[in-house]
Amino acid sequence: MSRPDFRQLVPAYVQSFEAYYPSRPDPELMRMYGVDHLHRLNNNENAMGPPPEVHEIVSGFPPDNVPVYPNGDSFYLRLKLAEKFGKSDDQFLVGNGSCEVISSVIKAFCEEGDNIVTADKTFAVYEWVAEFSGIRAQLIPLKDNGFDPEGMLAAMDERTKILFVCNPNNPTGTYWSRETMIRFLDAVNGRAVVVMDEAYFEYVERDDYPDGMELLETYPNLIVFRTFSKMYALAALRIGYLCGSPEIVDVVRRTHVVYSVNTLAQRAAAAALSNDGSFIQATRQTVREAKELLCPMFDELGLEYLCNEGNYAMVKVPMSDTLMYRKLMKKGVMVRTMTGFRFPNWIRVSLVGRPVMEDFCQAFREVLGHGR
Ligand SMILES: Cc1ncc(COP(=O)(O)O)c(C=O)c1O
Repeated sequence: MSRPDFRQLVPAYVQSFEAYYPSRPDPELMRMYGVDHLHRLNNNENAMGPPPEVHEIVSGFPPDNVPVYPNGDSFYLRLKLAEKFGKSDDQFLVGNGSCEVISSVIKAFCEEGDNIVTADKTFAVYEWVAEFSGIRAQLIPLKDNGFDPEGMLAAMDERTKILFVCNPNNPTGTYWSRETMIRFLDAVNGRAVVVMDEAYFEYVERDDYPDGMELLETYPNLIVFRTFSKMYALAALRIGYLCGSPEIVDVVRRTHVVYSVNTLAQRAAAAALSNDGSFIQATRQTVREAKELLCPMFDELGLEYLCNEGNYAMVKVPMSDTLMYRKLMKKGVMVRTMTGFRFPNWIRVSLVGRPVMEDFCQAFREVLGHGR
């Protein structure tokens, strides 16, 4: 058989797209770097593990449920979400992580020639999904490390279908206040869909931080994303969701893959929502304590850093971020290099419990020659 010329089969916008290679599994990495432990501080996971209500669901998952397809549209979880947020179940779509709902929204609204608007230094999946789908991503520079509402509005044209606002922003931790968000939504005035990605919603404790679920009542062109991966610590189960007006959700449902969310994830997510909030309070406290440890160290070392909302901080290091990564890996600490986020020589660190944060601080100081 002749060897096919794949290039003929591949759209130009896919040919020009660079694949993203995730890091190797922990045992491989530990072997490569010669360490017997690895603190994962690269993905903003909640190292406290899921709320206690989830433990029973996960450990008691009946094997005879395994051959049976999950409920195709997360029926019971949507009922639970509807009850929690005072909405109707048809306002929710559940996905295999909120990453999947990003895809569904872009597919639902964008065709060739359309564009999306977002920031240049934010969660890259909005840009990636747009670009590998042949949709132009207009990336507006951050202003004071935050999303720039005026810049985004000025970039809108008649082919702009979606504006993605990451609130708080991953990785800078900046957020739009309720006032800024409302001014922005008013200015968009229904001309395009606005997505508020609230992946880190549960971590924010600011009085002026807007709640997308409330704003949905006023803005039918708004879609809110939330995830169970971050605060609720269900990252391995891959489950997130969107919420919007029934009309907008009806459109997105047409492009959304059903059966993509497994049974265990649906049950674990429902159990996580039943927690009375004590778990969220405890996690927030852990993050606060981690900030109290890291920020003074960065100050003392005279390093530029960003330590705002969310369970992560960023710091600029006096060497390449990849070199810093390798040096920290040799000490059993894994951080995120930030060149890929367009922050060369910065690293991002997840904020977790004190013993691990202390290990990070010690490793970080040693790498910089300030070991104690
Ligand atoms: C801002 C933001 N949105 C969405 C996601 C995707 O989360 P998941 O697909 O695990 O729900 C992440 C994960 O890092 C994120 O940082």
